[in-house]
Amino acid sequence: MWLYFYYLNIIYVMNYRLFVILLIVLSHFTINIYSQPILLKTGWKFSKGDDMRWAATDIDDSKWQNIEVSRTWEEQGNDKYDGFGWYRVKFDMPSNIKEKSYLKDSLKFILGKIDDHDEVYLNGQLIGKNAGKNFPIGNNDNTARFTAYNIPRKYVISALHPAIKWNGSNVLAVRVYDQLGGGGMTEGECSVSMVDIIDVITLDIKSTPYRITPNNNWNKPIRLIVNSGNMTFAGIFAVEVKDIESTKTLFNVSVNANFNTQKSFVYEANIPAIENAIVSYTFAHDLSGNNISESSELPYLLTPVETDSPKINGAKIYGTRIGKPFLYKIPASGNKPMKYKVQNLPEGLILDENTGIITGIAKKQGTYKTMVTASNANGTMTREFTISIGNDIALTPPMGWNSWNCWGLAVSDEKVRSSAKAFIDKGLIDYGWAYVNIDDGWEDKRDANGNIKPNEKFPDMKALGDYLHSNGLKFGIYSSPGPKTCGGYEGSYKYEQNDANTYAQWGIDYLKYDWCAYSDIAPDAAKAFSWTNYRLSDANKKYLPDLKKPYQVMQKCLAVINRDIVYSLCQYGWGDVWTWGHETNGNLWRTTGDIEDTWSSLYRIGFSQHELYPYAKPGRWNDPDMLIVGMVGWGPNLHPTRLTISEQYTHISLWAMLSAPLLIGCDMAQLDDFTLNLLKNSEVIDINQDIAAKQAQRVFKNNNYEIYVKTLNDGGKAIAIFNVSTITQNISIKWQDYSISGYKTIRDVWRQKDMGTFGTGYDAKIPAHGCRLLKVY
Ligand code: GAL
Repeated sequence: MWLYFYYLNIIYVMNYRLFVILLIVLSHFTINIYSQPILLKTGWKFSKGDDMRWAATDIDDSKWQNIEVSRTWEEQGNDKYDGFGWYRVKFDMPSNIKEKSYLKDSLKFILGKIDDHDEVYLNGQLIGKNAGKNFPIGNNDNTARFTAYNIPRKYVISALHPAIKWNGSNVLAVRVYDQLGGGGMTEGECSVSMVDIIDVITLDIKSTPYRITPNNNWNKPIRLIVNSGNMTFAGIFAVEVKDIESTKTLFNVSVNANFNTQKSFVYEANIPAIENAIVSYTFAHDLSGNNISESSELPYLLTPVETDSPKINGAKIYGTRIGKPFLYKIPASGNKPMKYKVQNLPEGLILDENTGIITGIAKKQGTYKTMVTASNANGTMTREFTISIGNDIALTPPMGWNSWNCWGLAVSDEKVRSSAKAFIDKGLIDYGWAYVNIDDGWEDKRDANGNIKPNEKFPDMKALGDYLHSNGLKFGIYSSPGPKTCGGYEGSYKYEQNDANTYAQWGIDYLKYDWCAYSDIAPDAAKAFSWTNYRLSDANKKYLPDLKKPYQVMQKCLAVINRDIVYSLCQYGWGDVWTWGHETNGNLWRTTGDIEDTWSSLYRIGFSQHELYPYAKPGRWNDPDMLIVGMVGWGPNLHPTRLTISEQYTHISLWAMLSAPLLIGCDMAQLDDFTLNLLKNSEVIDINQDIAAKQAQRVFKNNNYEIYVKTLNDGGKAIAIFNVSTITQNISIKWQDYSISGYKTIRDVWRQKDMGTFGTGYDAKIPAHGCRLLKVY
């Protein structure tokens, strides 16, 4: 783990006449290779400290710590250790790996992820490096900032490199520097192998998404690219769809594929949209007999096609504080143009009948039951909608977008606007998605009056806010109570009121306030908690006042400005924040460390929230972090989420059940058909936005599946069955085991279809990591 980013560069290291290239691999293949890699998963030795002699082959490391390379060094007895550490491993390098390989020129070292920077030595010689020019600390070039800790390390050297001892014993030494938080070699995927055709050819199935065609096929362009050298390849390219369970082939097609460095092979597959199927794309190389293959779950759409007639979506309540500027856009799907009407609008508020945007200032406290109507050429819909004028805001979990999971520190005005535009153009705004939040990376220095200035990527914050507001969207921003943010930018420490005032001027509606370098101000408290050790205990409870203080300071500053600002506490759950976050007027609080787009991260975070259900209330939400669907990447380079299709249904269903804030983390401008369908399901959103605000309870768990039940305002219950195992499960549940009784109907929420009468139980066949989301009523 890490808290600060520094300034890193990928560099090229010249070594004799041979060059060493560092490659960053963002995609991963399921590959058939004939020359097997030498696995370096075990046998590693570790020492804290730094001594360049440790690069050499013949030093005695027998007394060093035995260490795993799949977990941080903190997790292995080196608690809170930051700074240098060395890893060493011995391995034999049989020359037959070269003989068995089709290409024989280069050798590659895969080292998983390293937190934060590293230099790699083979038998004493530097063969690769991922760090700034002045290892360990980078240079000061802002454009070169990125998160090295999260980059899979792959170093390639020539097979003739003098450091290699073919048919002999070799020593790989990795010099690591960790800045803060967890450190070391953390992914475990370490190996040495020949660079073979799989490294030279890219089977690109990721850069163009699946598109649904009018006759319900997936259209999917695939490319085979020669990415280095001057080579030509010929073979067969095949697409095959198999049933997940029976492995029966349901569809296949194969074509000749010829391509070279100049001309890639492009194939547009048309694949039937089948549920519970695996699709594989394979290139079989004629000359070597090698295959390159990638397979994944075939996408399937569950949300029904939107109706032409108006449908009013989203939360059935909206709250504002008395006397604060009001902004709410009625979310209604269906053909545009649309006309809107509201009966019983509180005094001081006005509706724009053409946009459905309500503005003004309501001065009289009260709970106003309004009737909202949306009509178009195809029909009309009227629905009750409550406007609460009082002291409370965020009465349902905030829904919107945040820049972090896609753009990281590379966020810019242009990127924010393009995501906001997609909210409008792709109709997400019609489902209640409203907040457009800039995370870290917008800040510059303070002026002579102590007012923060946005950096060159944000030419005019007020204009950006006006643009969002004029479209009925809300505007969110990020800061830290510390002197610096997690990205190393200016924090709010000692300038809290200046910042609150600036936010008011810019028209900010949401503040994410991230602890980060407040650790420098409260070092003892910071030592008592970490991302893995965040629970309150007898030993650390004396630091509670220190944890609360920075949030109370900003609370006071926000209270005196003339805006409703949703206050989002980000301090990774330290000190059981869910028990006291509301005391600081917090509307939501992160309950964990940062999420990543993997099942293990989703599982670890999402399925550990069940105990927090008593703390979710209107205006007080547990925040298990932002969504990881669509194109993500923590900037500047994005990739499609690594979650499978079923995992994504689980992700959205679980967050809906948990009453979690729904902040989309992907680049909205690149939203594909599947992700859009996933995010526009009004009934799934209704579960999340239910005004009873009751977070689901976990009622059952074993190693294969978990059941969550959420009590809804209409008296019904939402029930989610999650298959957390790696195979399809037939799951049979009896309602009486969970004290669920007295209902008439079962509804499949994703498909928005009644499934029949309630009966005594329910049988479901659920794919690996997938779920079934039901409503009984
Ligand atoms: C982390 C925070 C992330 C993101 C990042 C920005 O501490 O948990 O969500 O805001 O800082 O630097």
